Formats: sequence, C-alpha cells, structure tokens
Amino acid sequence: MSAKVIIGAQWGDEGKAKIIDILSEQSDVVVRSQGGNNAGHTVTVNGEVYKFHLVPSGILYPGTTCVVGNGVVIDPKGILEEIALLHNKGISTENLRISLRAHIVMPYHKTLDGIKEEYRGNSDIGTTKKGIGPCYMDKAERSGIRMCDYLNPEIFEAKVRENVELKNSIIKNVYNGDVQFDADQVLEEYRGYLKQLEPYFADTTVIVYDAIKEGKKVLFEGAQGTLLDIDLGTYPYVTSSHPVTGGVCVGAGVGPTLIDDCIGVMKGYVTRVGKGPFPTELFDEMGEQIRNVGHEFGTTTGRPRRTGWFDAVIGKFAVRTSGLTAIALNKIDVLADIDKVKICVAYKKDGALVKEFPASLEDLAKCEPVYEEMDGWGDITNIRSYSELPETAKAYVKRVEELCGAKVTMVGVGPNRDQNIYVD
Ligand code: IMP
Repeated sequence: MSAKVIIGAQWGDEGKAKIIDILSEQSDVVVRSQGGNNAGHTVTVNGEVYKFHLVPSGILYPGTTCVVGNGVVIDPKGILEEIALLHNKGISTENLRISLRAHIVMPYHKTLDGIKEEYRGNSDIGTTKKGIGPCYMDKAERSGIRMCDYLNPEIFEAKVRENVELKNSIIKNVYNGDVQFDADQVLEEYRGYLKQLEPYFADTTVIVYDAIKEGKKVLFEGAQGTLLDIDLGTYPYVTSSHPVTGGVCVGAGVGPTLIDDCIGVMKGYVTRVGKGPFPTELFDEMGEQIRNVGHEFGTTTGRPRRTGWFDAVIGKFAVRTSGLTAIALNKIDVLADIDKVKICVAYKKDGALVKEFPASLEDLAKCEPVYEEMDGWGDITNIRSYSELPETAKAYVKRVEELCGAKVTMVGVGPNRDQNIYVD
C-alpha cells in the first residue's frame, strides 16, 4: 500500500508542482482534494510549459488516473478551458474523473467575491476573485449546487433559480451592486458546460479506496498551504478550504488510516501573496533579490509575491498540524551568493520569546523574528547529489530539519525536475 500526501507547509507557492510532478510519474492515481482554480501549478516537461489550476498534473502521464475530489470547488468553464488546452497539446483526458459530490463555482460566486473584496476596502483579503470563498460559503450554508445535481434536471433548475434570485437580491440590496443574473441564461450556459463534463463524473471515493486497497500508488496533491487553511492559517487572511493533510481525508473521502506518508513542501525562504502579517518579510533589496531570482510572481494572478527569510516557527507548526513524515525543501539555489543566510528560530513579542505560531493575528503582527545567521553558498544548480552540496548548504538543510522536527528528504536546487536531490 502506498498513499502519499503532499501539502504546502507555508503560505502556498512552495514549489509543490515540481514535487507532485516527480511523484506523479510514479503514481497510478493522483488526487486533488480541496481548493479550486485559485491554485496554479506550473510544470515544464520536455521544454513544454503546462499551467494547471484544477486538473491534476498527473494527466501528463498516460495511464495515470486523475481525480478531482469532492472537496474541490469546480469552475466548469475554467476546467473545460484547461481540458481544451491539454487537448491542443495532444494530452488525453480520458483518465480524468470528477467527483459527483464536488460543488460548482457559479458566476454569481465570482461576482460576489469581487464585490465583497471591494466592500472590505482596506481590510480586503486579496483573494484571487475566482469565487472560491462564496462557493464554500454556499456549501457550508447548504445551498450549494453539486455536480450530481446536474444529472437531475428538475433539481438543477430549481437550485439555480433559487440561488440566482437570492444572489441578485444580495448584490442589489446588501451591496448596492448593479450586476444582476438572468436565471435562464445561467441555466443554458451551465447546462452546456456540465454536459461536456458529464463523461468525467464518478464516485471518486470508490476509485481512491479501491486503488489503495489494490496496492496501487496513490498521490494526493495539495493546493495552497498550511497558513492559508481556514482553521489553522492566518485567519481571516486564508482561503476557504483545508490545505493541511487532514483536509485530504475529507476532501477526497479517504480515511486517515489509509495514508502512509505526509510530505510537506517548504521553500528555503518564505513568500506570501495577498495581505496579512508575515514576521520574516523583507522590504529591502534582499527581498527584491529573492523575488527576482526565485521568479516569485503569482501563476494565477501574476501578482508579485512578498518575500522573507525561512521561518522555522511556521515549519514546526506545519509539521505538527499535518503530522508531516518528511519535508521537501525547495529552491535553496535562490539563496546562492548571499553571504549570511538568516533563519528565524523563534519570535519575540513584548520582550518575551514566542516559540509557537500564535493564533491571533494581532499577536503575530507584534512578533519580531529572532534570527540565526548561517554561512551562505554559491551556485548549486548543477549539483545532483546530496554529498556534492557545499557543507554550508548541508548545514542549512540539517538546521531546517532540526528546527522543524521532520526529516528533509528532498532538496530543490532549480526549477527543473532533475534539479531535485534526494537526501541520503
Ligand atoms: P481565495 O482562495 O481566492 O479566496 O484567496 C484567499 C487568500 O488565499 C488570498 O490571500 C490568496 O492570495 C491566497 N491564495 C489562494 N490560492 C493560493 C495559491 O494557490 N497560492 C498562494 N496563495 C493563494
């Protein structure tokens, strides 16, 4: 039995796509379990660049079953565009399966996402405006529309009409907005999309369970990251799903006893998009250097990412809340040619040492990082084995491991698949 989960252990964008791609090639089934097309995974194979938002990147490997699980919120237009792009590049999607239980992102979700952000003004969250929050709101409020509803035309029509009426009223009467939806148009448009998606519909919990029981290799690919988790992250500057490993169980409909390994992906530094406190954030030339060398600009929105030193308080938090069995430490090549690399080992707040990641944002905003300095390293992008890494880089890897409390099993020294070193 081999079921592995990969999650982001920081604020997302840890370079999960590369690790997922490496492990997907060896997997029989690849499963996405939360989030929506707010996520962006870029994979380069044989010089060809693929940008994924909803479809697991395992689709690039013939014979790999790719599952979009019940916990994912699906923009039908978005996923169809992704499928069309794949077809244009000669990639088959016959092994794609979409959960009948997954919720559908409707056009009013996207409108409401934008309106709510505007309404928040200076306290906006900086969402991707893909309708993710409003779709999960409807799910939790029990008025959402699921893939299986499409298969029952009367139910589907009634739900769309009811939602459109209510959302129109909210847009107009609560937010004073002028966008109004026409239920007939929405029905026609969405029936068109869902008809095309119907061949992919399945009870994906059965596919995943059977695969694990048959001893196949199953990979659960996370989107976003631990600190964007709606329960455990820097609330309210979070997404509306559960990017931690526990989210995989619910979002893929798989029990925790069926999972063997939980790998957390971290970068050798930290980035975040959107708003909210970020203790190790760099506002100087060093921050700019890391952003440029690391190409830290959003895949989905193109926004420049905020950058900062590695934060082991966050790393430890991720190890604890996701029960990580291993760490993949990415992009340490980006830190090349820095004389002294800093690593945050704790925070200081009002003169006291803080060793655990605080729940309150107000507390977090007051936290000053306590740094350790380590000697840097030069260009390591051509190194392919751990033993060849400079001693200073090895010391950095070991320190991350010690401070976070899980073994670093992979180190990334560049964007390509072969620039991934297994630690002996
Ligand atoms: P939402 O998921 O669009 O509602 O956005 C909520 C917050 O999560 C915002 O700060 C986004 O920038 C952030 N976010 C959502 N998806 C990602 C991602 O894939 N990587 C990094 N940040 C993300």
